Amino acid sequence: MNIFPQNMLAEYGKRFSSVPQLYFSPGRINLIGEHVDYNDGFVMPAAISKGVYYAVALNGGKEINFYSHDFGEAYTTGADDIHKEDNWKNYVLSVVNEFKLLGVEIMGFDCVFGGDIPRGSGMSSSAAVEGGLALALNELLGANLTRMQLALLCQRAEHGYPAVQCGIMDQFANMMGLKGQVILLDCQSINHVYIPLQIEGYQIVLLNSKVHHTLAASEYNVRRKQCKEGLEIIGSHTEVKSFRDISGVEELLQYKTAMRDEVYKRCLYVIEEINRTELASKYLHENKLIEFGRLLFETHNGLRDLYEVSCEELDFLVQLAEADDAVIGARLMGGGFGGCTINIIAENSVTRFIQSASEAYYKKYNILPEATIVETADGVTRLEG
Ligand code: GLA
Repeated sequence: MNIFPQNMLAEYGKRFSSVPQLYFSPGRINLIGEHVDYNDGFVMPAAISKGVYYAVALNGGKEINFYSHDFGEAYTTGADDIHKEDNWKNYVLSVVNEFKLLGVEIMGFDCVFGGDIPRGSGMSSSAAVEGGLALALNELLGANLTRMQLALLCQRAEHGYPAVQCGIMDQFANMMGLKGQVILLDCQSINHVYIPLQIEGYQIVLLNSKVHHTLAASEYNVRRKQCKEGLEIIGSHTEVKSFRDISGVEELLQYKTAMRDEVYKRCLYVIEEINRTELASKYLHENKLIEFGRLLFETHNGLRDLYEVSCEELDFLVQLAEADDAVIGARLMGGGFGGCTINIIAENSVTRFIQSASEAYYKKYNILPEATIVETADGVTRLEG
């Protein structure tokens, strides 16, 4: 039984007198298409059953009261005094601020939230925090935004107080996810289709390295700038405005000497990853899982050598996967510099692989990785009762 909704209700009951509405806001996996959402590429995320639970109600006053269960911290501000703070507060306050910027009247509310996504794990706890509050406020403040609008609002919120220039993938998966489906999202047009996640005989397993290098947020914004720089160099000679206008690696090669070496490497990765994701979606449709899995290993190599967002702990976990016949694909997942690897593993070898990989990782780093067998889920949901 999932104890989180009960925990949130109990915590809420200790602090506030009203009866709250409960929400579940999922984290996400991403099968392939990493660091290309902000580069007009394709991504393949799915919402998962791990996430953040919210208990929220209007309080009839002008005060906004938050309690973060995971941090054990409370924070209060006035509905007319929304401003930047620090840490977890920025994620929730920025969401409220985005409603305000749309002209929605902000009323006082009470809110308790917490969940089971380890922070810095690459499963996007931040989008889960944003999305849960956004759906709740959309209903309670009568803002009437669509899920698509809410996903975009949450992305703007993350650009706001937390100042992470993220793409749209995490917030989109969080709002638009469907159980049993992965989303193939074209981040240039924001068109999406659902693909049933039929991987009979295999399971998707996340291995959390439990390391999180502090570079993650700052380097993320640096990567974004480097890609923009590369695109501008190509665009100054051609009509190219987007990575999608570039015909392929051959075209990029023409500009290699005009680019700083690291900018060239970032662009090369992006072009290759966009192609890989298109190919991956074809393989998934054709149920060619072995070929699909191989692309994940290729993505990891690109993230390690060209995009340079891996770290030795993640490389080690992927090496273990690659050396094991039961694992048909693995790579680091999410922003990088720590967090999880995603692995596609033959069902009958899941337990054995988790055990042997955990032992090897522990032996080398003195850290026991945490394994999660992925279950997909619907996007943010109001829970009954
Ligand atoms: C983070 C961002 C996403 C995406 C991934 C990398 O999760 O929030 O927008 O860029 O990193 O694919």
